[in-house]
This record gives sequence, structure tokens and C-alpha cells, in this order.
Amino acid sequence: MPPPVYELLPSAEEDKISEHSSRRTHNNRVKKVLFHVLAVAAVMFVVFQGLRSFVRSSSKFLHAPPCHGRNLSSLPSHFTLPSGAQIPSVALGVWKASPGEVGPAVETALKSGYRHIDGAWIYGNEAEVGAAIKKSGIPRDELWLTSKLWNTFHAPEDIEPALDESLAHLDTEYLDLYLVHWPIAFKRGTSNELDVELTANPYPTWAKLEELVDKGKIRNIGISNIKNLTANPLKHKPAVNQVELNYWNPQPELLQWSKENGLLLEAYSPLGSSDQVKETLRVPEVLAIAKELGITPAQVLISWHVQRGTIVLPKSVTPSRVVENLKVVALPDDLFKKLEEAATSHKPKRILNPSKGWKLDFDVFDENLPF
Ligand code: A2P
Repeated sequence: MPPPVYELLPSAEEDKISEHSSRRTHNNRVKKVLFHVLAVAAVMFVVFQGLRSFVRSSSKFLHAPPCHGRNLSSLPSHFTLPSGAQIPSVALGVWKASPGEVGPAVETALKSGYRHIDGAWIYGNEAEVGAAIKKSGIPRDELWLTSKLWNTFHAPEDIEPALDESLAHLDTEYLDLYLVHWPIAFKRGTSNELDVELTANPYPTWAKLEELVDKGKIRNIGISNIKNLTANPLKHKPAVNQVELNYWNPQPELLQWSKENGLLLEAYSPLGSSDQVKETLRVPEVLAIAKELGITPAQVLISWHVQRGTIVLPKSVTPSRVVENLKVVALPDDLFKKLEEAATSHKPKRILNPSKGWKLDFDVFDENLPF
């Protein structure tokens, strides 16, 4: 006899309910597993990002080139000036960087990690440099901008207008560093007519620069191509001296004297400028070190400058070289000494000397100027 219908109905319902509930349990398990997998992935992602930004921020020079088994440490990314300011040790130099080339070079440099641009009013390219900086979007306080007062503007009343022009071209409110470009003053409106009085006595020029530091338009002041400016007591001592330093003209005595007197040197034409760069990069000692460490000859020389304790200002408008030149490493002591000895044991030869071009009847680099 078939069971009464009323008995059958509850039993079918029960089956359905139990099937439904076991499906629900299964779905819940799948959801839980998925949730755990996602949670673990999220935690791993956060940890990975954190580690990556830690590694990036802990050393600017972690992208240093491979060094054939020698354990190379990094060089200082900054030096400290008497004002407490931290100046980046490698800058892009923009002397001889032509219009149309300089902007892209600055853009490449900023993208690849440079934060220091060394320019000057006389280079005639500050507006293009300023536009490239603006395009980069890098906040002003993360950049170090240097410019230089040209020889025709040494008269105190001419200094602020010249500075203002550089500031306007660079599109900035202040300079991190402003240098007196040469210890030579030209008469206003002339291209090379010597102003003997202002050349013989640079203190009115310096006093005006000090005033502009106090006014906030310049953060640090310095000199270039000169040994000393400390005969008179100064309110703000020169923070740096920018001079020619390279394999051919390494100036070890000036470097020593500057260290003893708290004056940081900046190396211009560090690769020998366009005139001598080919020869510099072919120096046997430089080539041997490059080979041993698996880095380029330019990287050997730029590293050597920083390791000597100087700021270095390599100029390049070639993107791959711009990137290459920032990758410095500490040379092992034996190799550093070998290069220092090679550079300082030949007769020094200065690459740049504008005295003749300016028709001066003396050498601007003479220890005893006729004043
Ligand atoms: P370019 O600008 O065409 O790339 P310095 O820095 O001593 O003034 O030298 C600048 C000269 O060295 C320029 O002619 C520049 O050429 C060249 N230069 C800069 N960096 C390198 C490099 N890494 N390898 C070869 N030449 C370079």
C-alpha cells in the first residue's frame, strides 16, 4: 500500500532542504578560502610595496652598476654646507648645452634622479632649464639650483636685477647657490672692458650678495675660479668654490687647502670638457679600473671626484650618458689611490683659460694678480 501522500511530502522537502544546506555550506567554504587567498595577497602586496619604497629611499645609488665581484659601497649623495644645507654631490652641468638640447637633457636628468642643476646667466639657457624643471613637476624644495653672477654685473646696483633675471628665467623665487662667476669685473655694458676698481676690491660685490642672502633670494653664496676671499671678515663666508678639476688638472693642493678651510670644491669640466673628454676616457689607469669593476670610464672619473670630497658637475646632452653619469660608486682604496697618483703625477694642464679671449694683459689664474 502506498504511503499516504501527507507522509511523502515532508520527506521530499527534507531532502531538498538538506541538499540546499549542504550546497550553502560548500559555497561558504569556497568563499572563506577565496577570502583568505585575497587577504594573504593583499598583505603580501602591502609588504612588497613597503619594502620597495624602503629600498628606494634608503640609497640613491642602489642602481649602481655591477662591479665584477668587488664589494663596492656607495658614495655620499650629499655634502653639507656651513648653512646646514645639503647639496647633492652629482649635478647636471649645462655649460655648452645648446638651445633645444638643454631642456630635454634636464628632463632626462630629473627623471633619472638628478636633483641638482648647475647653470649660469652667461650660458644663455636658463629659460629652457626653467621650463624643463617646471615640466618635471618636482617640488622646488626637492631641487638644488645654482646660478652665477656674470662679470658685467659686479657693481652692487647691478647685482639684484641680474639675479632677478636668472630667477625669472628659472621660474623660481630663490636660488640654492649663487656664485661670483669670475674674480674679474667688466665695466657695465661692455663685453670685456676691465673694471679695475671692482676687480681689485670684490668686497662691495660680496656685501651686496650677503644682503640678498638675508633677503631670502639666495640660500648660499660662493665663488668660482678664485683661491680665497677671506682677507676681510665676512658676514657670510663663501660656501663653495667652483673650479676646473679633472684628470689633467686635479689641483691636489687647492683641494687640501679648501678642506682645511671649510670650503667645498665643485669640479667643473670633470671629464675634461668637450676638448679633452676623449683623451680622458682613454687614460690607461681609467680604462683598467673600469674593466676591473665593470663600470664605464666616465663612471670611474665621476666616482673619483665625489670620493675626493668634491661636488661634480658632468655635462651631457646625450640621454644615455646623463643616466650613466649619476651612477657613482666608491672605488676600492687601492684603485682610488692608483687613479689619484696617476692624475697628480703628470704636469698639470688647465683646459679652460679665458684670459686671452677677454684680451686681459695678465693671466686670470695667476697667483699674483696685478692689483
Ligand atoms: P655630450 O654632451 O655630447 O654627451 P665635462 O663634463 O668635463 O664638461 O665634459 C663634457 C663632455 O663630455 C661633452 O662633450 C659630453 O658630450 C661628454 N660626455 C659627458 N658624459 C659622457 C660619458 N658618460 N661618456 C662619454 N662622453 C661624455
